Amino acid sequence: MNVEQITRKLRHSTTQKNRGSTVYVTLEPCSHYGRTPPCAQRLVSEGVARIVYAMTDPNPKVNGQGLQILRDAGIETQQAAREFENQAKFLNRGFIFVQKYNRPFITLKAAMSLDGKMCLDNNSSKWITGIKARTKAHKIRSENDAILVGVNTILQDDPQLTVRHVKGIDPLRVILDSNLRTPVTSRVIANDNKCLILTSENADESKIKSLQDAGARVAKIESQNNHINIKSALEYLVTQNVLTLMIEGGTEILSSFLREKFADYVNLFIAPKIFGEGRGFDLRQNFNSVNEAFNLNIYKSIRHLDKDIFIEGWLSCSQDL
Ligand SMILES: NC(=O)c1ccc[n+]([C@@H]2O[C@H](COP(=O)([O-])OP(=O)(O)OC[C@H]3O[C@@H](n4cnc5c(N)ncnc54)[C@H](OP(=O)(O)O)[C@@H]3O)[C@@H](O)[C@H]2O)c1
Repeated sequence: MNVEQITRKLRHSTTQKNRGSTVYVTLEPCSHYGRTPPCAQRLVSEGVARIVYAMTDPNPKVNGQGLQILRDAGIETQQAAREFENQAKFLNRGFIFVQKYNRPFITLKAAMSLDGKMCLDNNSSKWITGIKARTKAHKIRSENDAILVGVNTILQDDPQLTVRHVKGIDPLRVILDSNLRTPVTSRVIANDNKCLILTSENADESKIKSLQDAGARVAKIESQNNHINIKSALEYLVTQNVLTLMIEGGTEILSSFLREKFADYVNLFIAPKIFGEGRGFDLRQNFNSVNEAFNLNIYKSIRHLDKDIFIEGWLSCSQDL
């Protein structure tokens, strides 16, 4: 049974059916009216006997009040074992980051050579990795609310940035483009209302209109040093319900996000190739010792995808979940 079928079944279930039951939830049932009415109230009216929850809700509007409603109604509440709390936190990472830091949870994704290059000097980058790695990359796309690239990647590669190699929902496609260089004919602007161009406050109105006519959404964001201010862009994305964001390149954009420490998690695809030339991360800073460098703290997994190597893990600069 899929989630939709379960939801439909629950909606039609009688109150009697749930009376006396134990409900297991990843997050404390909410106590306020948001997009839906309070879950805690609904559980009380369903007559459940016990709630096992994995984590409390960090939303200040809830933060324990959902559990209080349940307890006041005589429902037993119990927190699940610590290992489930950690799993639930990862599952709810986007929601937690928006509540605590007013920004999405950010994953950097890159394909690179053994010597850390993401493209050659002539900007060629197709294809660094094999089909298995690219299929995995599409799966990761489908797990994020939005993916973000810099305008040079659009100009260079004309990518679609959709989910094609696996079944899944297309995320919002976001482009950072201060001067609206994105061509109206770009493949990324499909007619699905899912392409969002973030541009500078003084962007040309006629260019905005042309891009909107082509099917893109355009929003003006504060600039900093002739670039889009990343913090402001992230705050805007939260207003567009983006809780999880994958940064897909190119090198300038990935470097900006890492340099400014707006980077929590990494998905790296490393191909068994040595480019010798080309561009990788450019952090524009000199570390005095290797200990000062950005670390991948927890190697959640390192595995082979045919000839390529896939590494995923937390960055040391990430904020707490
Ligand atoms: N291997 C991989 O995983 C991978 C993935 C994607 C792309 N690529 C390759 O990367 C190359 C393109 O990368 P790139 O480094 O030239 O450009 P990019 O990162 O795609 O785009 C950089 C541009 O984005 C705009 N921008 C706006 N705000 C920014 C900000 N806060 N920080 C940084 N940039 C900002 C700037 O243009 P404006 O000033 O005009 O706004 C900047 O020049 C291509 O060769 C592509 O094939 C590789």
